[in-house]
Amino acid sequence: MSGLFGHDAGFDKLIKALEGNGAFLVVTGGGGAANIMTIGWAQLGVVWGKPVMTVLVRPSRYTHGLLEKAGYFTVCVPPEGGMRGELAFCGSKSGRDCDKIRECGFTLAEGSRGGVKYIAGSELVYECGMLERTRVLPETLAQSVKAKYYAAGNYHTSYFGEIISVHKG
Ligand SMILES: Cc1cc2nc3c(=O)[nH]c(=O)nc-3n(C[C@H](O)[C@H](O)[C@H](O)COP(=O)(O)O)c2cc1C
Repeated sequence: MSGLFGHDAGFDKLIKALEGNGAFLVVTGGGGAANIMTIGWAQLGVVWGKPVMTVLVRPSRYTHGLLEKAGYFTVCVPPEGGMRGELAFCGSKSGRDCDKIRECGFTLAEGSRGGVKYIAGSELVYECGMLERTRVLPETLAQSVKAKYYAAGNYHTSYFGEIISVHKG
């Protein structure tokens, strides 16, 4: 992988998780308690000359409100085939109604900057600093995608985060 990432960016592991049972999106510092949700959609690449992770979150998620204010987020890839129960739980329960970190028995470890946290025991952690927030727009979206994913609206927001550190959890 390119020098921007410094070393192996873990692309294969990330994609395997996203195409499998998912990865965890951890948000702290969004004006509420820390929260974790499961994601299946994310992009890893280079934007604005920086290594960037983009995640897509629907406005109905509790996480969305946190991301609107947060300066950082982390994407935590579980060990291959592991944490299945936790992925299902964090992908179906809302942080509005319960403390998913406590219910899953997760320990949040301190990242490389103040306030950045990740799930201890992750296979791979991407620490990201918020660069940009953009909305998926119905006016410009391909009709086929619109029909398949947005029958009920709730168009995702894309959050672009500069990857400030990639490491094992
Ligand atoms: C495998 C899987 C992948 C998911 N991927 C996404 C995603 O990429 N974006 C999204 O907005 N919701 C996604 N979800 C749904 C959220 O994880 C789910 O609505 C969650 O309960 C939101 O939690 P929150 O209200 O605490 O933010 C996914 C769920 C699962 C099970």
